[in-house]
Amino acid sequence: MNAVIDEPAVDQSTDVAAVLNYTRNTGVRPVNYTFDPPPGVPRNSGEVDPRTVTIRDARPMTGLGLDASGFELIPHRSTLADWPSFQSSELVTAVDYPEVDAALKARTGAEKVIIFDHTLRDSTAEPGRASLREPVRRVHDDQTLQSAPDRVRKHLPPEEAAWRLQRRFAILNFWRPIGGRVLQTPLAVCDARTIDPEDLLPSDLVYPDWTGETYAVAFNSRHRWYWYPRQTPSEATLLKIYDSATDGRARLTAHSAFDDPRSPPNTPARRSIELRCLLFW
Ligand code: OGA
Ligand code: FE
Repeated sequence: MNAVIDEPAVDQSTDVAAVLNYTRNTGVRPVNYTFDPPPGVPRNSGEVDPRTVTIRDARPMTGLGLDASGFELIPHRSTLADWPSFQSSELVTAVDYPEVDAALKARTGAEKVIIFDHTLRDSTAEPGRASLREPVRRVHDDQTLQSAPDRVRKHLPPEEAAWRLQRRFAILNFWRPIGGRVLQTPLAVCDARTIDPEDLLPSDLVYPDWTGETYAVAFNSRHRWYWYPRQTPSEATLLKIYDSATDGRARLTAHSAFDDPRSPPNTPARRSIELRCLLFW
């Protein structure tokens, strides 16, 4: 008898079925607060629509990429190595920003990069803390086709903003784990080619001093989801948040943290940093 047939079936697949929190399209504009809202006001007003989807391992896939699917993984090693270093805004802006700036220019050929913000996350963080945020377990995109040009106006002098807005620009997030591989609450990303314009629900994102616009996302069975299992700190996920180009390349993609039902209990927390970057060509 062939011994191979007697071996127990081992599921080597890193495709995973998991719940993603979509937003139901009720016709009412969702409002999300980045801080504790006034009493009686919910933190997130959109109606959650949890759906179990298949999230495929993007590592062996061909045909994905920043301009095709709206995301990709690149090798990237930071000089900053540990969590305390990344907790220092001074170190991150002085050391990490220039490294990411150079990596983005090398990858995309952008002429100018402005890194305008970064966010640290910890999967054991308490909701509502500004300095250490929790993962976002909600399908979204960070900007909208309307709000992205406002970012250019916010970060450039008026004259330069005016001519830059006539040319191609994009907003990318540069996302990495810190301290170890992602073993808990990884990031799922949706192939931009499977998102229909009707799936995108403009929403308010309320900061203490201003309100931005993001997309919540309604479920569509066309969506194809991917992840990079066990992403290491020497790998960065590039996320296309916005692209002004209308030549058929990916203009945005939806993403969300998710809880991998196969993650063993007591795995180390996911700690990560995302840099928000304007790119100009
Ligand atoms: C992002 C984002 C969520 C997370 O990088 O834009 O939504 O849980 N991250 O890391
Ligand atoms: Fe996001």
